[in-house]
Amino acid sequence: MSARIPKFYRLGKAERLDALLERAPLDSEDLKALESGGLEWSRADKMVENCVGVFSLPVGLGLNFLINGRDYLIPMVVEEPSVVAAVSHIAMLTRPHGGFTADADPSLMIAQVQVVDVPDLNEARVALLNAQAELLRRADEVHPNLVSRGGGARDLEVRVFEGEHPMLVVHLIVDCVDAMGANAVNGMAEGIAGRVEELTGGRVYLRILSNLADQRLARASLRIPVSALESPKARMSGEEVARGVIHAYHFADLDPYRAATHNKGIMNGIDAVAIATGNDWRGVEAGAHAYAAQTGRYRSLTRYWMEGEALCASIELPLAVATVGGSTNVHPTIKALRKVLGVSSARELAGVMAAVGLSQNLGALKALASEGIQRGHMSLHARSVALNAGATEDEVPQIAQQMIDLGEVKLHSAERLLSALRAGREG
Ligand code: MEV
Repeated sequence: MSARIPKFYRLGKAERLDALLERAPLDSEDLKALESGGLEWSRADKMVENCVGVFSLPVGLGLNFLINGRDYLIPMVVEEPSVVAAVSHIAMLTRPHGGFTADADPSLMIAQVQVVDVPDLNEARVALLNAQAELLRRADEVHPNLVSRGGGARDLEVRVFEGEHPMLVVHLIVDCVDAMGANAVNGMAEGIAGRVEELTGGRVYLRILSNLADQRLARASLRIPVSALESPKARMSGEEVARGVIHAYHFADLDPYRAATHNKGIMNGIDAVAIATGNDWRGVEAGAHAYAAQTGRYRSLTRYWMEGEALCASIELPLAVATVGGSTNVHPTIKALRKVLGVSSARELAGVMAAVGLSQNLGALKALASEGIQRGHMSLHARSVALNAGATEDEVPQIAQQMIDLGEVKLHSAERLLSALRAGREG
């Protein structure tokens, strides 16, 4: 299966779906879900409280990805233009140079148990560490299913906070295998709380996972000759663009104001895959940004450097994502999109998502360091402005093109051009 589908964007809907069918094991139910948005009210009503409807977003296909020597089609659920194009463009540039290398840690989640009113913090810490084997066993007893799938409680850490608000925080480290693990680790934290109180003489309040899943990191990297980055539109050589990308990286690493935008771009790609695969993208977001601030300064999640004539880039961030559980079984579109992606473990998924985030970041930096971001955005944006102005599907291409030619992609221009077009037809 090749993830390269030349001129995919030029194909009509039926042809695109045919191309997808040739590459992914989709059945008629999956196709129906893709066309309809998938989620029926009756199912939605079982997912959240007070349900009054369902909500759709576009699914784009990230193309050209070669990761660890394997081709992937990347389903991306995102409302913003240019995100899918940017990741596919960079994946295309990396393809002849080995694509991406990616990997992820075992799926270790942290459950936190907060203990206050502890008579002696250090004695309590020692008591907890001495009882580690017992506490891990008790935690495993809460989730025998996880243990039978090869996971379970692995380690115990105790953190001491002294000062005005003294407390102990117990970290229970749990291998969640292919699950995100929220339910499992929350249950385990609750399961050991009583024993933690006995051992410490304190009072347990919070028992909940940490989204700063820094023992569950995913990484990706790439290496491309600078010549591949040439920008004819901006009349810049590959070397100039590469220098701009490196300056952009240093900017983000030095300045939190820039880092927020830089990392937001990374998450444009990662969230889109998280949503498409039914993962908790708020948890992924929280982990990513907390990790970006772990040195005490909020910094770039990616790194860039030169090696001879090549630009090298890497990313590392927590990715607590799953291939089992969650909304997988409930949402028919997610079921179909997981077939399209075709990953077989949570760690594989995390590696793929890291590669998508890196790709999105280089796509944004390349554009920002050369022709700017607006040009790429314009054609889809112009179409959506034309639609907003009331243009029919037949009228949209002409109105959008006229606005681009005039350099005026604005609602009032679209309305004026639309009236002129319609008046011309009548006259
Ligand atoms: C827009 O959604 C994302 C960018 O702002 C990212 C960046 O500036 O690196 C283009």
